Amino acid sequence: MLRHLLNPLDFSVEELDKLMDLAVDIEKHPAKYAHACEGKVLATCFYEPSTRTRLSFEGAMYHLGGHVLGFSSADSSSAAKGESVSDTIRVISCYADICAMRHPKEGAPLVAALKSGIPVINAGDGGHQHPTQTLTDLLTIRSLKGRLGDMTLGLCGDLKFGRTVHSLIEALSRYKGVRFVLISPPELRVPEYVLETLGKKGIPYKEVQSLEEAIPELDILYMTRVQRERFFNEDDYIRMKDFYILNKAKMELAREDMLVLHPLPRVNEISTEVDDDPRACYFKQAQYGMYIRMALILTLLGLEVQ
Ligand code: NCD
Repeated sequence: MLRHLLNPLDFSVEELDKLMDLAVDIEKHPAKYAHACEGKVLATCFYEPSTRTRLSFEGAMYHLGGHVLGFSSADSSSAAKGESVSDTIRVISCYADICAMRHPKEGAPLVAALKSGIPVINAGDGGHQHPTQTLTDLLTIRSLKGRLGDMTLGLCGDLKFGRTVHSLIEALSRYKGVRFVLISPPELRVPEYVLETLGKKGIPYKEVQSLEEAIPELDILYMTRVQRERFFNEDDYIRMKDFYILNKAKMELAREDMLVLHPLPRVNEISTEVDDDPRACYFKQAQYGMYIRMALILTLLGLEVQ
């Protein structure tokens, strides 16, 4: 049975625990895994720009001893000639063993998975979901906080178009004692379908506008970039883009053990003066991204290392 990762809920909490344990073991004992994917090929099909996600997938496969092929923009693929993702994935299934796909259209990796002969990983679909960023975020939180439940998590910025936000909220809503503080201007609120999930599960959340007022109660602050590429007009983007800027003064209002996460890329929403604060964990977070993707590739390929 082919297994894909399209949505953060495709793995149970127990499976996620196993995946994170594997990532931790990979980080500790890289040599043990250095040949685990020998002879295997990962295709990275990126129809949208990426630095971390694509390169951490590629790095992950190289560190497992496998090979990588792919494209990094729609312009350099047959999408420019009008080919559908269904046809593209059928062809790629002949050349590769597993595929990570990023696409500007919501649902494109799902459409690909329906016709694919190999596991498909959603590496970000439009303003919808970004499950492998969520795996990264969960591993970061578990490693640095020692737990995934019993915490107040503030998400700040573009909660409307930020796919990492939607995936993280859905994934964390399965852990006990999680509370969300959703910090955004009214125009960039979390979409209704995500709020409905929280409502149905009875998970406490509040929507606020002021970062200064919210910050003292947070265990984790998850900052996000305003998603320029998803705006219909540039004026709205310009009005919104500097709505939140986390700086030293705001960090003084936060708890001593609050963690600051950000999926990156950062534009202006975290001042570089915050980077030296021990609570700033976004670069460490990017590092966890490669280990969890190594664990994911092994798991979806059904490979076990003794
Ligand atoms: C995020 C994405 O692509 O959604 N980036 C990433 O993969 N780390 C966040 C963003 O682009 O703002």
